[in-house]
Amino acid sequence: MALLKIARMGHPVLRQRAAPVVGPVDQDLRRLIDDMIETMLDAPGVGLAAPQIHVARRVIVFRVPVERAGPDSGDVPAGITALINPEFEPLADQQVFGWEGCLSIPGLRGDVPRWQHIRYRGLTPEGEAVDREALGFHARVVQHETDHLDGILFLDRMPDLTRLAYAEEMRHFAST
Ligand code: NI
Repeated sequence: MALLKIARMGHPVLRQRAAPVVGPVDQDLRRLIDDMIETMLDAPGVGLAAPQIHVARRVIVFRVPVERAGPDSGDVPAGITALINPEFEPLADQQVFGWEGCLSIPGLRGDVPRWQHIRYRGLTPEGEAVDREALGFHARVVQHETDHLDGILFLDRMPDLTRLAYAEEMRHFAST
C-alpha cells in the first residue's frame, strides 16, 4: 500500500475524459484501488477519482461518513465503496444545493447543485455488479466523483461563484 500524490486543479489530467476499464480487473488495478482508498482516508477525504492520482481511468472510491449522512435527506452512512466504470441517472427532477470540497482544489468550498435522488451502477474490484439508489450526500459524492471521470470539477457546476469560499474563513465566520 502506498500514499499517492494528488493532482491539483491546473494539471491537465483533471480535464481529460478518463478511459473505461476493459476486461477483467487485474492485480495492478486492485493495488491501485487499495492505494486510492489509503490516499483518500489519509487526506482525509470522502471520495477520490483515479484522474486525481494521475490515472485517466474510470475508477472512483468514496464513503459516506456518519456525520455527513443527513436524516433530512434520507441517506444513510455507507462504508468504503470502490466502483469501476460508474454511471448514474437521476430518479427525480429535483436538484439540491450543498457545500462541497475537492482534494484537487484544497481549501475551497462551493455550494453546488446536484440531483437529490439517483440510481448508480458499476463494478466492484471483485467484478461484482453494483446497482444502488442513493439520496442526499451519498448521491452527491457519487456525482462529484463521476464528474471527475469526465474532466468536470465542482466549480464548473456552480451557477453562483459568490458561493465559493475558503473553508477556513467559513469556519471563522460560522463561529462568530
Ligand atoms: Ni473532487
